[in-house]
Amino acid sequence: MNTEAKYHAQECHRLFGLGRMRTRLLIRAVVVCFFASIFVIGIRAEDGHEGWLRYVPLDPSAAKIYATVPRVVVVEGDSPVLRSAQQELSRGIRGMLGVALATQSRNADSSAASHAPAIVLAVDRNLAPESLRIRWSNAGSKKSLRITGGDDRGVLYGVFALLNKIARLESLANIDDTQKPSAPVRWVNDWDNLDGTIERGYGGRSIFFDADNVRPDLSRVNDYARLLASIGINGCAINNVNANPRVLTPEFLPQLIRVADIFRAWGVRLAIAVDVSSPMRIGGLYTFDPLDPSVAKWWRDRFDEVYAKIPDLGGVVVKADSEGRLGPSTYHRSPADAANVIAKALKPHGGLVFYRAFVYNHHLDWRDPKNDRAKAAYDNFHPLDGQFDDNVIIQIKHGPIDFQAREPVSPLFSGLEKTNEAIELQITQEYTGQQHHVVFLAPMWKEVLDFDMHAAPDSAANTPVKDLVAGKVFHRPVGGYVGIANVGLDANWLAHPLAMANLYAFARLAWNPDSTPEQIATEWTQLTFGDDPTVVQTITGLQLASWRTYENYTGPLGTQTLTDITGSHYGPNIESSEENGWGQWHRADEKGIGMDRTVATGTGFVGQYRPPVAKIYESLATTPDQLLLFFHHVPYTYELHSRKTVIQHIYDSHYEGAAEVAEFVDQWKSLQGHVDAQRFNDVLARLEYQAGHAIVWRDAICNYFLKKSGIPDDKGRAGHFPNRIEAESMQLQGYEPVDVTPWENASAGKAVACKQTQGCTASYKFTGAEGNYALVILYFDQKNGESKFRVMLSGKEINRWTADAQLPATKIGADAATRRTIPNLHLRPGDQIRIEGIPDADEPAALDYIEITPQN
Ligand code: GCU
Repeated sequence: MNTEAKYHAQECHRLFGLGRMRTRLLIRAVVVCFFASIFVIGIRAEDGHEGWLRYVPLDPSAAKIYATVPRVVVVEGDSPVLRSAQQELSRGIRGMLGVALATQSRNADSSAASHAPAIVLAVDRNLAPESLRIRWSNAGSKKSLRITGGDDRGVLYGVFALLNKIARLESLANIDDTQKPSAPVRWVNDWDNLDGTIERGYGGRSIFFDADNVRPDLSRVNDYARLLASIGINGCAINNVNANPRVLTPEFLPQLIRVADIFRAWGVRLAIAVDVSSPMRIGGLYTFDPLDPSVAKWWRDRFDEVYAKIPDLGGVVVKADSEGRLGPSTYHRSPADAANVIAKALKPHGGLVFYRAFVYNHHLDWRDPKNDRAKAAYDNFHPLDGQFDDNVIIQIKHGPIDFQAREPVSPLFSGLEKTNEAIELQITQEYTGQQHHVVFLAPMWKEVLDFDMHAAPDSAANTPVKDLVAGKVFHRPVGGYVGIANVGLDANWLAHPLAMANLYAFARLAWNPDSTPEQIATEWTQLTFGDDPTVVQTITGLQLASWRTYENYTGPLGTQTLTDITGSHYGPNIESSEENGWGQWHRADEKGIGMDRTVATGTGFVGQYRPPVAKIYESLATTPDQLLLFFHHVPYTYELHSRKTVIQHIYDSHYEGAAEVAEFVDQWKSLQGHVDAQRFNDVLARLEYQAGHAIVWRDAICNYFLKKSGIPDDKGRAGHFPNRIEAESMQLQGYEPVDVTPWENASAGKAVACKQTQGCTASYKFTGAEGNYALVILYFDQKNGESKFRVMLSGKEINRWTADAQLPATKIGADAATRRTIPNLHLRPGDQIRIEGIPDADEPAALDYIEITPQN
């Protein structure tokens, strides 16, 4: 129950407990109890749109601690950001304390002493840029609460910090809080296409674009910028790094101006991703050679025009010579040449170039055991150290491959001493369940940020990634954090109600990388779901466990995600990584698994780390289990530090991972009545789906490695499904068996599909003992159709549904595989279970199996 609900419930109880009442009291009791019933039964339905900025009314008794908070806000100075700060403060105080703040403007030099106590918003140039300070100050005999910032942004951040504390009922009695962001760059990138789709976006269509233009209605952009500002994000590149050159055309500029105007009020600088071939593709030049003077002039002219209209444009993001994008290699020029020609055009205007280190050859020869995509970023950028202009930042993905469930830290972080760098972290869950699975990424990011790269000349000094990207180790002028957010038009931005914790966590770590995932998850939960301890503990615990759980049932031991890397990046597809040029190889064969990346016998990738780190990974004895197969190829019988063999670890971790998600479902169910029904039901349905999909993953991976290695599971689970009845062995009418590719993506490699428009049936006569059972049906839910299903038990309908989930699947396979459980069925021998499927469009109402599991 949230605080509001609790208050009304207690009050209702108190009033009716007063015995015989006067009429007025009776009316009050009825009204209060009416509200109590609304809150308790429904609590306030919430769609997640407000994110962590809900500002719900505080429990009046708890709110008493804020009685001394002044009721007047005084703003010293005027600017769009200061106005946002003032308005936000008023909005938050009104929402949480029910108080309308009176507003006064005041010159910075007028004395506060002459006025009543106030919350004073002011810039204090003694503070570092973007820093904030909140403290009481004595103004005559009355106290004022001063929120000061090193600049306007700092003031705005101070307001959000204050509201955050009030929302979490932190005492302000002795507040004296000074905060300084860890790094100047705290940006997000959104990979939105101008047509309104989003590359690797899972929360609906673009909030920025539609039909090749900026949207007419930008209210969601305003709400997004507000959310970003509330967590200290100060820049946002709004279009896909696979950039459409049109974004830089003169015709498009008025549209960018509209977005910049909205961002500006929240202290968020607009940025755009640009295509390095723009001088040719939209500029009419015959070349885009970065060393050609006409090309340099084109960039200069273009940006002079852009900055004349958007003077605070943050800069540009560049993806070049990567995954089919054109780049300087066309002219045998280097990334430094390409970055610098744009940097020189931006320099007079204070703009930054984020040149992405994600430059690699995706046509690598997989037959050559020395080839290794992991080496690409370092090989391409380390030799150029010192050649980049001062307003260039190399944007480095946190690992050497591509946002896998687990990777080591990119060695490039310690490979640049005379170049600015930023870490790129992926908030959108491309390889981590695409927001159909709960995966809270802060624990992963925290490990990366704390990882000691031993980069200082004195290798005894601790030089974690967080210090390198902040420019602290090599005294760089600028650097920091970039998160790939990819929010969409879905009411709650990222589809899964728990996924916004990742955006929050990214920004909190960028602000202060010393904060812990526990603190961040707790804070996010309090703000997003309220302060009920049961809710906070349960959601925080679930979030904190979720990444390792996901790793367990997908790709453990550093094998990367083991997903379909040439397609959806979602469900299992172990061999999709192999025998192609993409280089996400794990090299599994009959005898063993893993990429040998050692200097001694492998690709030499390990040699890109500084010696103390390289020493750890070069040796099998010191490589941590969780990264073993990223660095070494070993037999399945190799014994881990945990004393388990590799193959047994694969079996165990998958069974454990799937069991953990089943526990998430139970944990979430315990929150019924504590969380509003809308979000409770939404999360429950998603967790139930995830629990089923974790079993799909478990079975695909275990079956595959069982067959590949020929080594049985010590615990007898892999390959044995005692309660399972394959659909192809049921009595079929209309349904036809089909082979599924890859075979491990369906039980026994087969499913049944229906091609008859009137529908098909699969039946099974129950032969077990009479009792209670759960019936599981695995069906395939593709996005290219909405098949209908009905389940009959001895002629009586017991369940029906439409397969209309938006999973990334257009064919039968593990991406589409969905388990539906019908609990508490009383079955008797001879009972007939019949499943009817009616196909729709290209979706053939396919089935894989049923399971009939005894239930107490
Ligand atoms: C991944 C992702 C692409 C994206 C690329 C990038 O490979 O699948 O969609 O364009 O990363 O970061 O540029």
